[in-house]
Amino acid sequence: MADTTTEVPKVVENSRYERLPDGRLQENHIRHGGPIPPASAIDLETLDITDPELWRRNEIWGRFERMRNEDPVHYCPESPVGPYWSITRYDDIMAIDTDHKRFSSDAYKGGITLFDMDDDFVMPMFIAMDQPKHDVQRKTVQPIVGPDNLKNFEKLIRERTQYVLDRMPVNEPFDWVDNVSIELTTMMLATLFDFPFEDRRKLTRWSDVATGRENPEICPGGEEQWRTELLECLGYFTELWNERVNLNEPGNDLISMLAHGEHTRNMEPMEYLGNVILLIVGGNDTTRNSMSASVYGMNLFPKEFQKLKDNHDLLPSMVSEIIRWQTPLAHMRRTAVEDVEMHGKTIKAGDKVAMWYASGNRDERHFERPNDIWIDRPKVRSHLSFGFGIHRCVGNRLGELQLKILWEEFFKRFSDVIVLEEPGRTQGSFVKGYTKMMVQLVPK
Ligand code: HEM
Repeated sequence: MADTTTEVPKVVENSRYERLPDGRLQENHIRHGGPIPPASAIDLETLDITDPELWRRNEIWGRFERMRNEDPVHYCPESPVGPYWSITRYDDIMAIDTDHKRFSSDAYKGGITLFDMDDDFVMPMFIAMDQPKHDVQRKTVQPIVGPDNLKNFEKLIRERTQYVLDRMPVNEPFDWVDNVSIELTTMMLATLFDFPFEDRRKLTRWSDVATGRENPEICPGGEEQWRTELLECLGYFTELWNERVNLNEPGNDLISMLAHGEHTRNMEPMEYLGNVILLIVGGNDTTRNSMSASVYGMNLFPKEFQKLKDNHDLLPSMVSEIIRWQTPLAHMRRTAVEDVEMHGKTIKAGDKVAMWYASGNRDERHFERPNDIWIDRPKVRSHLSFGFGIHRCVGNRLGELQLKILWEEFFKRFSDVIVLEEPGRTQGSFVKGYTKMMVQLVPK
């Protein structure tokens, strides 16, 4: 009889994936540094794509490709976040994202990430609300990123970008993530909140903490540390609220807008915290990781970089392409409010559903050469990174503007930026980004 055994990778002692009695590999919380089986060797039935280690080591793509091709509405029966569905094709994600009547974002049903909020620490925020409350709260803050305000911001963003880039060393290694991406987006965030500028790195920290509860590199003290730091954030922001709520003439900043807004001025403290966290994370991690991705991506695809160097008019298109390729928020979660049939499967009322934007953005049914950066690709803005439907990113134009200005100012000063080693990646399946990226700038 022919030998039908297929080669499976060695399973290290203590690793948290194991061979099932029938020989299949059960992949569940791969140990930090342990071997990761190739996508072709795993059993789809037990695949848990939320394993943080898969994201830290960028081992997600083959798994997503298999789900798209073999099981586009995939059920994971057991995982640290409980059972959940994965939606991985572009069209299916679009269908769910625009179907807010059957797929809820409500924090009290679980919210918008696969980790449920704890019953005693729910942070309502308008991204995690359904209509009609979502709509009126969104309208309260929307003007800050309206076209007029963006025009006003442009000069400030440019000045700050110039300031930051002028202080970077040339011909010498430094970490782009901390010195450029984080610095620029944190400055922007401080402006949006009119937050004390010298304390702005607190915003960076709270942003990391908010999405880092399960990440020992961010919250080594776990849940307790997470809550303590978020409550510190609430304390700080409550002082700012109190300062601004009594001013007759409301300022043009997010805290004043919330403190004076008809639909937000009577919020409970946890709802205020929730909305602050939404705006901190929304405006910070996403743009930060797109900035880092743009440098990394241009290094991985030097012909595209050359195209951009030769023709700066391609910048807006390059920015969109980078945001597609990076997908800074890998998924948004919804909770089904009724039974829904999809590809022959029944998503039951109450089930968790992850729309994997990261996968939809690499769906070969929608994008030609989806894994490549192609800065002038057709329909470049049709990506899923900002979501679709009533929750579509409110700050998308601001994020794009910051990236465009960064590269305009870059080209005035430098001829190249060289990535010196593989960047460090964030772990976890929500924020998809970089922790460190050593680069060297080449002057003009
Ligand atoms: C919503 C991504 C920049 C504020 C969202 C959503 C995504 C996203 C995926 C959810 C969409 C959905 O559920 O359908 C991004 C990316 C950015 C970015 C990739 C940059 C490259 C920003 C900026 C701000 C911001 C700069 C700052 C003001 C928000 C807010 C929401 C949101 C407030 C909630 C909208 C709602 O629920 O109605 N963003 N974002 N985002 N984003 Fe962004």
